[in-house]
Amino acid sequence: MKLSSKDLLGIKELTKDEIILILNTASGFKDVLKRDIKKVPALRGKTAVNLFFEPSTRTRTSFELAEKRLSLDVLNLSVTTSSVVKGESLIDTALNVQALGSDFMVIRHSSSGAPHLISRHINASVINGGDGINEHPTQALLDAFTIKEKTGRIEGLKVAIVGDILHSRVAKSNIYLLTKFGAEVRLIGPPTLVPRELEKLGVRVFHDMDSGLDGVNVVMVLRIQMERQGRGFFPSTLEYSKNWGLTSERFFKADMDAIVMHPGPMNRGLEVASDVADGPRSVILEQVTNGLAVRMAVMYLLAGERE
Ligand code: CP
Repeated sequence: MKLSSKDLLGIKELTKDEIILILNTASGFKDVLKRDIKKVPALRGKTAVNLFFEPSTRTRTSFELAEKRLSLDVLNLSVTTSSVVKGESLIDTALNVQALGSDFMVIRHSSSGAPHLISRHINASVINGGDGINEHPTQALLDAFTIKEKTGRIEGLKVAIVGDILHSRVAKSNIYLLTKFGAEVRLIGPPTLVPRELEKLGVRVFHDMDSGLDGVNVVMVLRIQMERQGRGFFPSTLEYSKNWGLTSERFFKADMDAIVMHPGPMNRGLEVASDVADGPRSVILEQVTNGLAVRMAVMYLLAGERE
């Protein structure tokens, strides 16, 4: 089986079978990454360009390492020292990078739909590394991989996503993926950041932590995106952490085997207490480790589709 597109733009467009294929392929790459020699020649001779128009630690480094583990030639375009600052358009930038012979472009951009726009103009495989408030597909895939690894399943699980859902591309991609797999998704947060209309996505909305967390198997805490809070969505950070911060007392409401996830970067003491983030039920760093195998799988499968 192959993926049906040359690009990975979002989870919304993927079928359940395609997601299973990516997760199974990632499982094989995770075994490879445990060997002494972690590099495979699978994509030798091909080129990947990483275009990050927004800051990133995990996604950018993990794509770069995934590309190197697959023996790709890697180019990181530094946007701040590129001709983008002289006003070159997004499409012209992508066309010029393609003219150098790139097979893959990994793009993070503050505008929702930027990777989709680029994909319509270039032949290289475009991978969405996070676009505005729309989607962050590889994050949801690595989250699913981690959930499955830790609990053995996704179907039937109760998954709480806590925080700034409105501005979260991570939440959107996770909602699409988890509902495709039959998980019960609960969104928790203040009404300004978790509006009731989101229920049309097939999820349940809670504005109270204690009832939302009751008996859940997975708690996915999201970063409060201070850079997108211009309109004052909550009175103060103190108020937010008092009502919606995940503390160890609140975590007792979840199932006794529940796991805690966070896509990073974390605001410790705001959306999550350090003793929970660093505690025995936290899989936050395992998410990062799994991101490498998942991104290798995505690039490997997209290359197969292109051929
Ligand atoms: N999870 C995530 O996207 O982290 P970065 O912003 O550091 O890439």
